[in-house]
Amino acid sequence: MHNYRMVTDDLYWVGADEHRLSLFENIHPLYHGVSYNAYVLLDEKTVLFDTADWAVGRQFIANIKAVLDGRGLDYLVINHVEPDHAASIEEVLLRWPNVKIITTPKAVTLLNQFGFALDPEQVDTVKEGDTRCFGKHTVAFLYAPMVHWPEAMVTFDTTNGVLFSADAFGSFRALDGKLFADEVDFAGEWIDDARRYYTNIVGKYGPQVVALLNKADKAVGLGNIKMLCPLHGPIWRKDLGYIVDKYQHWATYEPEEQGVMIVYASMYGNTEAAAEVLAAKLCARGITNTRLYDVSSTHVSYLISDLFKYSHLVLASVTYNLGIFPPMHNFLADMQALNLQNRTAAILCNGSWAPRAGALMREELAKLKHMDILDEEMTVTSSVQPQNESELDALADAIAASLAKKKG
Ligand code: FEO
Repeated sequence: MHNYRMVTDDLYWVGADEHRLSLFENIHPLYHGVSYNAYVLLDEKTVLFDTADWAVGRQFIANIKAVLDGRGLDYLVINHVEPDHAASIEEVLLRWPNVKIITTPKAVTLLNQFGFALDPEQVDTVKEGDTRCFGKHTVAFLYAPMVHWPEAMVTFDTTNGVLFSADAFGSFRALDGKLFADEVDFAGEWIDDARRYYTNIVGKYGPQVVALLNKADKAVGLGNIKMLCPLHGPIWRKDLGYIVDKYQHWATYEPEEQGVMIVYASMYGNTEAAAEVLAAKLCARGITNTRLYDVSSTHVSYLISDLFKYSHLVLASVTYNLGIFPPMHNFLADMQALNLQNRTAAILCNGSWAPRAGALMREELAKLKHMDILDEEMTVTSSVQPQNESELDALADAIAASLAKKKG
């Protein structure tokens, strides 16, 4: 049974949801599923914009067939070739062997590397700024390298203002029948999934995202984009400024909020207790926009996501094998891999005989750009004792002073 929805006039969503996938890219946990979006335009020519993961291939094909309603498929525009989208290309070619593929030269190279062996006669490679007309609709192509692979492009329909934005403006979470961001509680229910998607999938490529936003503004004017049609998550047809503003923050590594994220690594609960006392002391100083996480039981993708949200970070780690507790070390490695920058950090170290984690965490944080690492550092010897309270107060005071300075 087909399950498509109309996007506007002659454009249809023909994607599908997946709820059975537990790890996106075999690394990021999914608790609410994910959608793979693709779109069919019914003009004088018929056009499919992108394909879908193999896992939803049958639904995807059924949707295309239902929308085409007996017409052939003239064009397939491929904006992005990562297999969560491109895996169904072969099936499309089998069903509609005369379809003409429109994509970038780099995409052809990557598709051939993945074993698709495209017939060069069937492919129309486009350059930056090229246009193609399908009847009423004329589309323009903008390269979007590293958003999130090097071959990526976005396609702007100059006739109706729809931007097929590839991975940009995407989100984790299945649509479950809702198609538009204004049909869901995006700011309340979806934003954390959208941020976790962006920061972990595209977060490393902030400058490239900024370049794409600037390029789109120059080429078509951001105000002329009436609809954002990403490859995952809901379509934006209202209040586009909301998600563009989020992207501007994330891509420039500007925190969304003044607040404190405390992440602790604790073997027997003593470092956890120190982190809890610090959290209480911050709240007592009026700083209640705080989050506290156990690094051992929180998937690092969630930690990365909140790092892009909050302005301040406290790392509290026990010393382990004379080093940083391994999950905390992994968190720091992920921060570096994703190019996190421009945050204020404080350090709390625990060690029973050779407390080393603090100095080592400071070294790792210093590898990030534009970091303000507070001098006040607390070292706990096994567990916090009442005589250590003044040190925790000093740390809380330093964080509070830094927050007040940033707000001011
Ligand atoms: Fe959803 Fe980069 O692919």
